[in-house]
Amino acid sequence: MEKLKVGIVGSKFAAMLHAESYKRCPATVMHSVSAIDDLDEFGEPYGIPNRYSDYHEMFEKEDLDLVSVCVPNYLHKEVVIAAAGAGITGIICEKPLATSIEDGLEMVSICREKQVKLMYAEDWIFAPALVRAKQICQEGGIGDILYVKAKETHNGSHSIFAQKKEYCGGGSMIHLGIHPVGFLPWLVEAKITQVMGLVTGGSELNLLHKNYTGEDWAAALIVFDNDTRGFVEGNYIACGGMDDKIEIYGTEGNIHIDLTQGSPLKVYSRSGYGYAVEKADFTHGWTRPAVDEFMSLGYVNEIAHFVDCVRNNTEPPSGTTGEDGLRALAVALAIYESAEKGHLIQIHDP
Ligand SMILES: NC(=O)c1ccc[n+]([C@@H]2O[C@H](COP(=O)([O-])OP(=O)(O)OC[C@H]3O[C@@H](n4cnc5c(N)ncnc54)[C@H](O)[C@@H]3O)[C@@H](O)[C@H]2O)c1
Repeated sequence: MEKLKVGIVGSKFAAMLHAESYKRCPATVMHSVSAIDDLDEFGEPYGIPNRYSDYHEMFEKEDLDLVSVCVPNYLHKEVVIAAAGAGITGIICEKPLATSIEDGLEMVSICREKQVKLMYAEDWIFAPALVRAKQICQEGGIGDILYVKAKETHNGSHSIFAQKKEYCGGGSMIHLGIHPVGFLPWLVEAKITQVMGLVTGGSELNLLHKNYTGEDWAAALIVFDNDTRGFVEGNYIACGGMDDKIEIYGTEGNIHIDLTQGSPLKVYSRSGYGYAVEKADFTHGWTRPAVDEFMSLGYVNEIAHFVDCVRNNTEPPSGTTGEDGLRALAVALAIYESAEKGHLIQIHDP
């Protein structure tokens, strides 16, 4: 079988995560990239020969099999719809699927109509530690799941687009909390049907980042349709590197997962060294450097799975279809609505 010709839209952080994963996927060739900046800085080291400042032109001129959409949230809709219009078989869309339900619905329905595979890049679903945790749950290791708790937190986004509500669709819940919100239904095998949210108000009302127009702290109590209870959190006030933690409580036991700071390595360095963990400020003193974040956070397995889906014309795993992305978006937006109205919100299928 010929290698899949891949196009990447975007040239920065998320594009790098995808490119590092394609590098480890022998069934693909990184063929083209489109972005409004850093085209050569990104294209050169990954050996991507075709570079475009306009993704419409890239879709038109190159015969791509698969596209990674790694642009700011507000552009997901237009890029996905353009890729579907160009007849590209597989589209991988970064989280969150979109910034509004209307946009997400349009993306899902156009891709369905054109028989294009829209795959939602919730990498946690492919993270080896989380896959193993689910397996233990399925083996009955902790009995029936009663309560789940999950968070992604760090000290603020590197992306200027993530700091502005108009580009991001919100703040730390839609940008970070969307991981737990997308992952937990896959783990629990149930839908989130009720949320009770609390968020800071953006700008002056934020705890720390007054220049972010979206919230810098957000949390919600959630209820699943099988009666499991949960708690999700996303915030930009946590120092010391990205902190992703998951706790699962069952009738017969518990599982605690430290996805980002639980490295087997423990280093003491007087001089410092290259890199420890995403969003960590420095590498002096005692640190717990990640061994391979591309693998441990799920990106490598995610890309390999999505590539298989396109090559074998199979459906993406549960939790990673366009519809799953839309459902996660509905939950994140319901958390905002709940925080604004001060009461619990029921969630219906979008
Ligand atoms: N799954 C994850 O863990 C993860 C991590 C980081 C970011 N993301 C997601 O990836 C997406 C991008 O985030 P980022 O951190 O790379 O953002 P960024 O701000 O670092 O980069 C944005 C990229 O979009 C490109 N871009 C902007 N407008 C464009 C246009 N009109 N046409 C083509 N390219 C355009 C820019 O050139 C740049 O390369 C976001 O949706 C974000 O939520 C996911």
